[in-house]
Amino acid sequence: MPEKQRTRRLRKYEADPKCSISAPSNETMQLLSPFGPLIAKTKLPSELIEKINLFADQHISETDSTEFMLPEEIVFGGAPSLADIVGRLINNYVKEAEGSQLDRAIYEVFWIVSQYQNTPSPVHFHSGDISGVLFLKVPDEIDPSQEERNYISGRKAGYLNFIEGNKQRFSKSLLSVKPEVGDFYLFPGWLLHGAEPFIGEGERRSMAFNATLKVKYTTT
Ligand SMILES: [Fe+2]
Repeated sequence: MPEKQRTRRLRKYEADPKCSISAPSNETMQLLSPFGPLIAKTKLPSELIEKINLFADQHISETDSTEFMLPEEIVFGGAPSLADIVGRLINNYVKEAEGSQLDRAIYEVFWIVSQYQNTPSPVHFHSGDISGVLFLKVPDEIDPSQEERNYISGRKAGYLNFIEGNKQRFSKSLLSVKPEVGDFYLFPGWLLHGAEPFIGEGERRSMAFNATLKVKYTTT
C-alpha cells in the first residue's frame, strides 16, 4: 500500500492534542486524556421512549427478566424512525471520533433487555462496529444502601459499567453510569461493559443495538 494512503487511513487513531479532561486545578499544569475509546452520551425524545415502551410492555414478563428483539416496524417505522434518529447520532459520532463521513450504518439488531432485581448482566462485548444502550425504565426504588453498594472496583448496583484495559496506575479503566430514562450511550462494539444486579422493586429496561459501518472514501 502506498505510504500516503496508509497515513490517511491511520489518521483516525490520532488523538487531538488539545483534548483536556478538566480545567487545571493547578495553573502550572493541564491534564490531557488523549487515549482510549470514545463514548457518546445524549438524550432521546420522550415520544420515542414511549413508542418503544408501548411495544415492549406487551412482551415483558411482570416477574422474570427477559430479552427480545424489536421488529422492523418499530425500528424503521415512523418519521423520523428510531433507525433515522440513531443513524444521525452515529453520523455525528463517526465525524467527531474519526473525522470521516459515514456512508451508511447497517443495523444488525435492536433488542430490549428487561431486568428485575438480582439479575446480573455479565461483562461482555457486542458484534459490529458500534453499539448503543438506551434506558427505557429504571427500578421504582433501589434500596439506598443497595444503590451505594459497590461491587469489585466500584461498579455500582444497576449501573452501566464500561471497562477498558487493566488496572494501570494513572490510567482510568472503569466508567460506571447511573441509568436515567432517555439517556442514550453510543460506544464501540468491542468495548467491554456489563451491569451488576440491583436490589429493589420494579423493572430496569433498556434497548441495545449493533451496527456495522461503511465509511465514505475520502481523498483529504
Ligand atoms: Fe451489552
